[in-house]
Amino acid sequence: MRIILFPILFLFLFSSSQELVDTILIDNNESMYDDDKLSAEFFNDRRRAFRALMPENSVAFIFSSPIRNRSNDVDFEYHQDPNMYYLSGYDEPHGVLVVLKDEISINGELTNEILYVQPYDEADAIWNGKRLGVVGGKQQLKVNSVFENSEFKKHNLKLENFKSVHLHHPQNDVRDNTFDKNDLYNLIQQFYAKISTQQENDVDKTKINQWFAFLREVKTAEELVLMRKAISITCDAQIELMKAMKTDMKEYEAEAIVEYVFKKNGAEYPGFPTIMGSGENSCVLHYVSNRKTMKGNNLLVSDVGAEYHGYTADVSRTIPVDGHFSEEEALIYNIVFKAQQAGIAASRAGNRFWEPNIAATTVISQSLIKLGIIKKPIELRRYFMHGTSHYLGLDVHDKGTYGELQPNTVITVEPGIYIPEGSPCDKKWWNIGVRIEDDVLITDGEPEVISDCVPKTITEIEALMKEKSYLSN
Ligand code: GLY
Ligand code: MN
Repeated sequence: MRIILFPILFLFLFSSSQELVDTILIDNNESMYDDDKLSAEFFNDRRRAFRALMPENSVAFIFSSPIRNRSNDVDFEYHQDPNMYYLSGYDEPHGVLVVLKDEISINGELTNEILYVQPYDEADAIWNGKRLGVVGGKQQLKVNSVFENSEFKKHNLKLENFKSVHLHHPQNDVRDNTFDKNDLYNLIQQFYAKISTQQENDVDKTKINQWFAFLREVKTAEELVLMRKAISITCDAQIELMKAMKTDMKEYEAEAIVEYVFKKNGAEYPGFPTIMGSGENSCVLHYVSNRKTMKGNNLLVSDVGAEYHGYTADVSRTIPVDGHFSEEEALIYNIVFKAQQAGIAASRAGNRFWEPNIAATTVISQSLIKLGIIKKPIELRRYFMHGTSHYLGLDVHDKGTYGELQPNTVITVEPGIYIPEGSPCDKKWWNIGVRIEDDVLITDGEPEVISDCVPKTITEIEALMKEKSYLSN
């Protein structure tokens, strides 16, 4: 308390100006919001790294995500394009970021980056909250040159003088808001109007994606802090679900428990729709309707991820609804467990991206042959039809090069076995679906399983399911 009071008294003694009082109030207000978001320095550093990959005499245009309409006059909650966010921190629609290899002169000032933002708008603030505006763009994001998006059309960037022009913009879902002359639809049109017809064919949309893949694959220390937070929240959610699970619970109740823990701990939203599939639904890979009443003899695949300040976790556990694995369930579960251990062991720097997948599929095909569920390795794809790993970060299926695994990359290791009803094997296996997924940090040495905080052996899961949740009634 003393630490806070002293500077306040100090300021009042030496100045009574309204400006200082406002500063104190603003500072106090700011502390009521998130104070652990990525800093302007982080984004500045990412732009520097991006610029270093650009060829000589080139320019890159990165556009905001469109606003996506849900129905009639209701839109989905806005989510920024991860590439735009990665380079600027700007999280509003109708923006354009221009990154230049070398400086150009705009309005008499030299700059190698320009951010065009939505204008500050008092009337809109009443409905949708305050926009960042030009002042916010300069002060908070610290991009060298920030202008209202209405200036984009007017600025002559002399694109004909560049050796190459690179473009990242959303390929679809861009609607024309006829009331806004500078919405994303118009900004993209204005971009093409700047490009000569002859140059249009040469606008590159491929290399820019490779640069994003190269940069986003390897996480900085600041990104890893946020990823650890997202993963830790997700682990807490999985643990609470195991404790709260009861027979006859609805899948959506399980979803509600997980998403309650997400929000309670500060996650903005799930990083992807929550998958909560029991019984036959455990065999549907991206099952999201979550409306079934679970039965005691069902397995439940819970594949969930909290998104925290842009970064998402992705952790799957498979649990028996009544707290006990049957003999068949335990057999299948332990194959997936063993396959995951093999996949994690292969998650080492220098290994090819696909090596965890090869390790996991080898275990699964040999084990399914032993159980008589398949006869030849080629039949494996009937019961394990997805890849073992994907990169994780701003996107759940994050950008990456699919080359050798690099230190400070986060991948998932998520083998599974899914045996839907009617499969050509003994009926006793039908409707067993198992996926075990962890988020693994590639290091210079042993892989670090960041999501290890949630148990996954049969003994651990059965023991945890006997504990009481603070969410049980
Ligand atoms: N968590 C869903 C997926 O990886 O596809
Ligand atoms: Mn996944």
